Amino acid sequence: MNTLKMGQGKVVTGEWFWDREKEKELFVQKIDDGAHVLLVAQRRMGKTSLMAEVAELLAERYICLFVDLQKCRSASDAMVELSLKIHPHKSLWKKTKGVFSNVINKMTDSVELIQISELGITLRSGLTHGNWADKGSQLFDILAGADRPVVLLLDEAALMVNNILKDENHNITAEGKTHTNEFMSWLRKNSIKHQGKIRIVISGSIGLEPILHQAGLSATVNNFVPFELDPWDDETASDCIKALGNEYGIEFEEGAPEEMVNMLGCSIPHHVQMFFTNVYDRCVKRGNMQCSVPDIAEVYKSGMLGVRGHVELTHYEERLEMVLPKELCALALDMLTEAAVTGHLCDEAIAAFQKDYPIEGQDVGKIQKEIIWVLEHDGYLKSGEKGYVFVSKLLKEWWENRYKRFFTPILKRGV
Ligand SMILES: Nc1ncnc2c1ncn2[C@@H]1O[C@H](COP(=O)(O)OP(=O)(O)O)[C@@H](O)[C@H]1O
Ligand SMILES: [Mg+2]
Repeated sequence: MNTLKMGQGKVVTGEWFWDREKEKELFVQKIDDGAHVLLVAQRRMGKTSLMAEVAELLAERYICLFVDLQKCRSASDAMVELSLKIHPHKSLWKKTKGVFSNVINKMTDSVELIQISELGITLRSGLTHGNWADKGSQLFDILAGADRPVVLLLDEAALMVNNILKDENHNITAEGKTHTNEFMSWLRKNSIKHQGKIRIVISGSIGLEPILHQAGLSATVNNFVPFELDPWDDETASDCIKALGNEYGIEFEEGAPEEMVNMLGCSIPHHVQMFFTNVYDRCVKRGNMQCSVPDIAEVYKSGMLGVRGHVELTHYEERLEMVLPKELCALALDMLTEAAVTGHLCDEAIAAFQKDYPIEGQDVGKIQKEIIWVLEHDGYLKSGEKGYVFVSKLLKEWWENRYKRFFTPILKRGV
């Protein structure tokens, strides 16, 4: 009997990790082939988990360094994060200390004993805008000389690039563009120089490509092969729900797991897990572990579309605000609401929005294309028969519930 433990929103591996067999196999194959990989999928699809799971599979043959770039605001910050991940590897760290001899020598000999947080601060003090690239390249040279090949997993790289590129209004600045270009070109140069010795995997909850595209820097990642992570198919998702049920003693009525999958419409792993958690909580609260098909509809309405769902939606909105400049965000939200409330965003509606959102000196049609490209890339919309439609039924309903009250479809405005 298959069992699975609840993910609870954390990064999952091992007993918590479901399926992805084909993806694991392909991923490992690409790493073995020496490829640099751009892991692309919308948020909550399980990118970080897949990277962590694959890192465990590769651990005997490779040195895997998992670096979260989310909080980095400069290339120097990224060098600190990378160095901290080298720290546990004794022989590599010995050499790394040499790179930071400008600051580490000033400290006590027992550098190994100091707290990681303090070490981070010390390393940071040794990095400047003028020297990070050189020191970073030295780090790559050290990694390339390791006794096993290195897999460098850079998670949330797009958030870092976004931090560097834009000011507080999410507009790209000239300085940001220069710094982003310096960082991406440096990464590219090293990825080519150490091909075969170091593999780089880039991933994140917002797409790196739309961000780089906005800055005209797409070419900096053209030596990375895209690897797309799709939602689970219906069978994988319902088997996942059954395995969770087995672990936690839920007795599903025939057809109930399938109904859950059906209601989601798109089996993003986190949404599947969320749905199960809601079912489980309800069963425990009422002291009856049997779950019928009508129970499912009830849980969807009260749990998935309720307060918990709302928290998830907020994340989606925040990410969107990060990717798009402030003055475009209102238009993007309006276009998404049109798709959610009317069911699709058709060409006629897109054209009508241009009159509602005149942006001085700019071709609004072109801006809309850019917005749609971002919305497609980040998994909100897909092209349908009558126009763009939401990929996820759940996200559509969240969106609709939140915005429909004061919304008038664009073709009915001012009539
Ligand atoms: N292979 C998987 N098996 C089980 N649950 C998963 C899997 N992948 C993702 N999840 C669920 O989705 C949640 C988010 O996964 P995560 O790896 O953080 O996604 P991402 O990095 O794409 O945002 C996890 O907490 C877990 O509940
Ligand atoms: Mg992640």
